[in-house]
Amino acid sequence: MVTLEMVKKSPVVRQYMETGNDFIGNMGAIEHNMHHAELTSFLCYDILNTLGYPVREAELGSMAGYLHDIGNLVNRYGHGMSGAIIAMQVLAELDMEPVEIAVIMGAIGNHEENAQGQPVNNVAAALILADKSDVHRSRVRKRDAANFTQRDRVNYAVTSSNIVIDSIERTICLRMQIDTSVCSVMEYFEIFLTKMLMCRRAAEHLGCQFQLMMNNNKLL
Ligand SMILES: [Fe+2]
Ligand SMILES: [Fe+2]
Repeated sequence: MVTLEMVKKSPVVRQYMETGNDFIGNMGAIEHNMHHAELTSFLCYDILNTLGYPVREAELGSMAGYLHDIGNLVNRYGHGMSGAIIAMQVLAELDMEPVEIAVIMGAIGNHEENAQGQPVNNVAAALILADKSDVHRSRVRKRDAANFTQRDRVNYAVTSSNIVIDSIERTICLRMQIDTSVCSVMEYFEIFLTKMLMCRRAAEHLGCQFQLMMNNNKLL
C-alpha cells in the first residue's frame, strides 16, 4: 500500500513542489511551501480521523493534502486540475490502486474556489477545510506593505488560526485572531466569503456544522 512517507520520498514530488512554489513566488503569490503541504496533509488526516472515517481514507487525505498544490508548477490558474493529473502520474508510478488514485484526483481537482471546487468525496471535503484554514501572516512573501494586494493584506492580518473538530457535537470551527489595524473583520469576511461558503459546504458533506470565530466573536 502506498504511504505518505513513500510520496514524500519521491524526488519528482519534491522537485515539482519546490519549483512550483518558486515559480508562483516570482509573480508575488503567497507561500505554498513544504510547510503548507505538511500542515494541510496533517489537518486533512486529522479531520477525517477525528470524525471517525476509516484509517485508510484518512491516509488518502494525508496524501491529497501533501500533493494538493503541486499543480502550481504548471500555472497558478487551474492548479487544482493540473495538480490532479500530476498526482495521478506520481501515484500510478508508486503502484497505488486506481480506486485510491481516483479519490485523490477528485479531491485535488476540487480544492480551488476559483475553479468551482466541490466536496465530491470525503477526502475532498477534508482537503477544502484543511487548506482554507492555513491562513497566516507568515505566508505573505512581500516585505513592503505598500505592494500588498488585498489578498496579501487579509493574510497578513491573521496572527493565528486553527481548526477545532468536535466529533460529538459534529462541529468544525475555524478560529482566527486578526490584527484589526491591518484589516477589519468586515473586510476579512468580504474577501474570504467564497472560501468560507466552500468550507461550510465541505463541513456539511462530513455531516458537520461549520463555525467561524474571529477575535473570539462567532461570525458563522
Ligand atoms: Fe491550492
Ligand atoms: Fe493550498
